[in-house]
Amino acid sequence: MKKFAFIMLILFTAVLAACGVSETVEENTAVPSNPPAAEAEATAVPRQGMGMGNGMGPGSGMMARHRAVVPAEYAGLTNPILADETSLARGAETYANLCATCHGDGGMGDGPAGASLDPAPAPIAHTSQMLGDDYLFWRISEGGAMEPFNSAMIAWKGSLDEEARWDVVNYIRALGSGQVTPGQRMGGAMFDPVAEATKQADMIAAAVAQGVITPEEADTFTAVHAELEMVMAGQRDQIQGGMADMQAEMLAELVADGRITQEQADQFNDIHDRLLAAGLMQ
Ligand code: HEC
Repeated sequence: MKKFAFIMLILFTAVLAACGVSETVEENTAVPSNPPAAEAEATAVPRQGMGMGNGMGPGSGMMARHRAVVPAEYAGLTNPILADETSLARGAETYANLCATCHGDGGMGDGPAGASLDPAPAPIAHTSQMLGDDYLFWRISEGGAMEPFNSAMIAWKGSLDEEARWDVVNYIRALGSGQVTPGQRMGGAMFDPVAEATKQADMIAAAVAQGVITPEEADTFTAVHAELEMVMAGQRDQIQGGMADMQAEMLAELVADGRITQEQADQFNDIHDRLLAAGLMQ
């Protein structure tokens, strides 16, 4: 029961951080084309956000990561390696040796070598809960020295074989789900779903206070969110692609099931995009 509550909290916070685009999603299509999102982004006027920390606002890596589309070469890949003890142990070793220095022992993006980086290291314990296998494997393989990321994230395909890269995918997911205890080498926080949920509720309140969204929109957002949370609970394994893909897919499913209307889904996406453009979305 406790574990269930923990997972639900993670999902709750995960969806808030995920990104919305209005597009139709075709089943099993890993490379969506989304002209509406591209247009919206080109015309979006970034507003002053409340500054949720390094690398979170417009112009930081956050927007890029929300919008990223997995390239064809990686799209649709699924982890062939079971996240059993052996894989997690291998992943833990790789993580401690190569990743914790930037991403922190707990995977919250707060390792010592990451402190001065812009964009800051991603809180991968958290974000890996809402990103597809294909996205994670792509990013670990190719790093961040490219559009749209332009970051110090290292490309590991030359130094880690495929198995090692999949093991570390298993490990970072396990870090964020509380399945493993973080190492104690580099320092850094652990993923704390309760603190994360509080932060998100504060973000919504700030968005209303700043006039980015209306109180009614806050209610719509929260209500659709609760539905998303439910549908995600059963589907973690089927998620593919980046955050935008995941959110679009889950919303489409809720509409198909009659749990929300298309109008509510559209509103949710619109609110979500404004929160992101305002630099409020974590
Ligand atoms: C030199 C510092 C550095 C090291 C070492 C490093 N990373 Fe990163 N990583 C970053 C930065 C900065 C970002 C955020 C910018 C971006 O997405 O490119 C990032 C992003 C990522 C992402 C994308 C997450 C998201 O939310 O989009 C993944 C996955 C990732 N790193 C995994 C790893 C793994 C696994 C290792 C070790 C094998 C590692 N990183 C080592 C700096 C680092």
